[in-house]
Amino acid sequence: GDSHSEDTLSITEHLEKIFAQAIATAYPAYSDVPVLVAPVNNVSAKFGDYQCNNAMGLAKQMKEKGISKPPREIAIEILKCCPASPIIEKIEVAGAGFVNIFLNKNYAVDALTNLLRNGLKPPAVPKRRVLVDFSSPNIAKQMHVGHLRSTIIGESICRLLEFLQHDVIRINHLGDWGTQFGMLIAHLEDRFPNFLNESPPIGDLQAFYKESKKRFDEDEAFKKRAYNRVVTLQSGDPNSIKAWTLICDVSRQEFQKIYDRLNVTLKERGESFYQSRMLSVVDLLRSKQLLELDEGREIMWQDSEKTGIPLTIIKSDGGFTYDTSDMAAIRHRIEEEQANWLIYVVDSGQSTHFNSIFKAAERCGIVDPSLHRVDHVQFGVVLGEDGKKFKTRSGDTVKLSDLLDEGMKQSLQKLQARGRDQVLTPEELLNAQEAVAYGCIKYTDLCHNRISDYVFSFEKMLDDRGNTAVYLLYTYTRIASIARNSGTDFSNLSDVLNTHALALDHEKEWKLAKTLLKVHDVLVKCANGLYLHFLCEFCYEICIVFTEFYDSCYCIEKNKAGEIVKINHSRILLCEATATVLRSCFNILGLKPVTKM
Ligand code: ARG
Repeated sequence: GDSHSEDTLSITEHLEKIFAQAIATAYPAYSDVPVLVAPVNNVSAKFGDYQCNNAMGLAKQMKEKGISKPPREIAIEILKCCPASPIIEKIEVAGAGFVNIFLNKNYAVDALTNLLRNGLKPPAVPKRRVLVDFSSPNIAKQMHVGHLRSTIIGESICRLLEFLQHDVIRINHLGDWGTQFGMLIAHLEDRFPNFLNESPPIGDLQAFYKESKKRFDEDEAFKKRAYNRVVTLQSGDPNSIKAWTLICDVSRQEFQKIYDRLNVTLKERGESFYQSRMLSVVDLLRSKQLLELDEGREIMWQDSEKTGIPLTIIKSDGGFTYDTSDMAAIRHRIEEEQANWLIYVVDSGQSTHFNSIFKAAERCGIVDPSLHRVDHVQFGVVLGEDGKKFKTRSGDTVKLSDLLDEGMKQSLQKLQARGRDQVLTPEELLNAQEAVAYGCIKYTDLCHNRISDYVFSFEKMLDDRGNTAVYLLYTYTRIASIARNSGTDFSNLSDVLNTHALALDHEKEWKLAKTLLKVHDVLVKCANGLYLHFLCEFCYEICIVFTEFYDSCYCIEKNKAGEIVKINHSRILLCEATATVLRSCFNILGLKPVTKM
């Protein structure tokens, strides 16, 4: 097991330990039941801040053994056996057998002071070596909104896992090795016969792809040569490799522009990387007698019952497939990269494929479920405002660079409508414009449960009310301006903390403090299921609770002349703690906090 230092456990984990002990003392026969502790959704004084819901389950289990005990009695028994803890103010049994836990104020003051002194420290979780396969567009084809979703979700998952101190490898599994390269190379040879000496000016790779496809469909001789080029390429012929590299570079540059704009980092490792490993994974499967002949193809079933559709490992023409490359890739990731957690961020349409790959990898001994965690992080499609698949007005697929440009345009309009262009310096304005444009596109993608489809609407995502990036960014700038106006020097927070202690006397201060302290619980929950909408909802909750606090608690008091007459330093510190938590969450969500907007 991993031993965590106590102070980095989330509150839920602290309480789980306490209640595990209480259950073991009260009911030793049931000491191994999973402890059910969770934060109460809406922080309110009534039902406590956290709840332990084990009593009902225990009552049921006892009933099965012939012992009849009301859950309420069990809850009271558990409560009696709870060891004292500085975290807990009081515990109450409510209703049919809920155990309501109230957080201790001094504990909260200490925890927030610690946060102010040292920044937000990650909750302790067992460390893993994680490989995240995301973005992964295809060369010569359009990088579409599906790839945009994978890019945004994948980047945030990496940031989340990095924050939790995992060892993260970010892999771009580029589609750079398909049969389409045969016709692309053959067409390149014809269009730019001098390509070996002089880089061909392919401006529009999509158009180039279309031209070559047209010839492929209409011209038998060309088609033959295209097939032959697949063979020469895959066998490593230098001229074919050169042509292939030139083609890939055109796409690569386009992709990189998108990654730079979205601040995304990836290591390119396309399907071509696995060519030699496909040969050896075939050997492995053959030696384990897992390949079966089927109408000239060689296939592999995911289990001995022949469930589902088999993988095609070798086509009848001897070539490899998407299945083969993913079998080689999963083996490389586990055996060579030594990863023990694999994450594939790919649309839901490919769930059958990944299911088969994962099962097959287990069957042939590459993946051992007791050592390796493997996830297909799937997501739904992006819809247009008409509820149909996202397209341009003329019905074409949307170019991602056009989409980002449109975001920049609309974000500027939004800022101008608020008159911000009159107030901000050109540099501040550009900063705000970018934060809003890219922030709103990312946030819209992340704030919905990723499994569901969502409607892409700039109008909705640029709304400054509701659970939007704009609302969160505005709230952050508001906090920053309070700190600015108070003239507090946050560069040396320790000094400030030495002279001004944090107090949480007002009901709204206390509510804000308790909300902020849920951050570790939320991060752990997000990482467990790889869902980022929980983090978005948490940011939104912080902003709402902060606004309630700010509306009823003066941080700075001014006289009629607008001069500051009183500064409540404790509240300024609470503002700063809020900003600290938000900054960390924004960073995971890819939002850029701006102090003026
Ligand atoms: N290039 C593929 C596509 O666009 C996605 C690749 C995902 N990763 C993988 N290991 N199969 O559909």
